Amino acid sequence: MKTVILIGANGTMGKAALTGLGKHKVITAGRSKGYDFNVDLTDENSIAELYKAVGEFDAVVNTAGMCKYANLKDMTTEQWSTTVNSKMMGQINLVKIGLDYIKDNGSFTLITGILNKKPIPTAIADATTSGAIDTFVQCVAHELPRGIRINSVNPTVLEEAWEVYGEMMPGFQPVPGALVGKAFERSVDGFITGQVLVVDA
Ligand SMILES: NC(=O)c1ccc[n+]([C@@H]2O[C@H](COP(=O)([O-])OP(=O)(O)OC[C@H]3O[C@@H](n4cnc5c(N)ncnc54)[C@H](OP(=O)(O)O)[C@@H]3O)[C@@H](O)[C@H]2O)c1
Repeated sequence: MKTVILIGANGTMGKAALTGLGKHKVITAGRSKGYDFNVDLTDENSIAELYKAVGEFDAVVNTAGMCKYANLKDMTTEQWSTTVNSKMMGQINLVKIGLDYIKDNGSFTLITGILNKKPIPTAIADATTSGAIDTFVQCVAHELPRGIRINSVNPTVLEEAWEVYGEMMPGFQPVPGALVGKAFERSVDGFITGQVLVVDA
């Protein structure tokens, strides 16, 4: 059994990830009430405080990443910043800061999303930051010390979120959260590193 910090655990993707972490001690984290610990992944001090408060852990699974949606000509600098600070730099900082705390042979699993591979209108910031994180894990895996691994899970839309996103994603086939949970399980329990685990129908 590993101790796994699951960030964004109460969200749709967090619940999907949880289905793959059944054999572990899962410590939940998010911004609001209802988590074991609070963290704001856009705040480096908050990330460090989370790791200090948890103590020893083997894995970090992140399913949080706020994205703003607009066409390029309408996307404001503030909307770009929100997305970059959360989905990109927030996740990079989880790894950078987490390296000071995670156990030997631990792992980081980050969230991206299919829209960097199958673009749709207005999702340019989500797609761009997902692509950045997929590239980050493929590259940084080569420099992680102490047997520490890193992967990203890049899923298509979840069945559980189809009601919200279905209309903007014509021609996409949603997948069950439990299938995406398997990718999180493969990342945490396997030996792979530097991989983008695409889950598509
Ligand atoms: N849903 C899908 O079908 C799908 C498919 C592919 C990829 N994704 C990606 O998965 C990620 C999560 O999507 P979702 O649908 O699960 O969203 P969601 O249901 O809104 O859940 C988001 C979760 O992230 C947490 N969170 C948000 N900002 C945070 C921050 N700054 N610090 C710490 N925690 C934060 C929220 O915590 P609070 O409860 O405290 O607000 C919540 O638990 C997104 O990046 C999305 O692009 C989603």
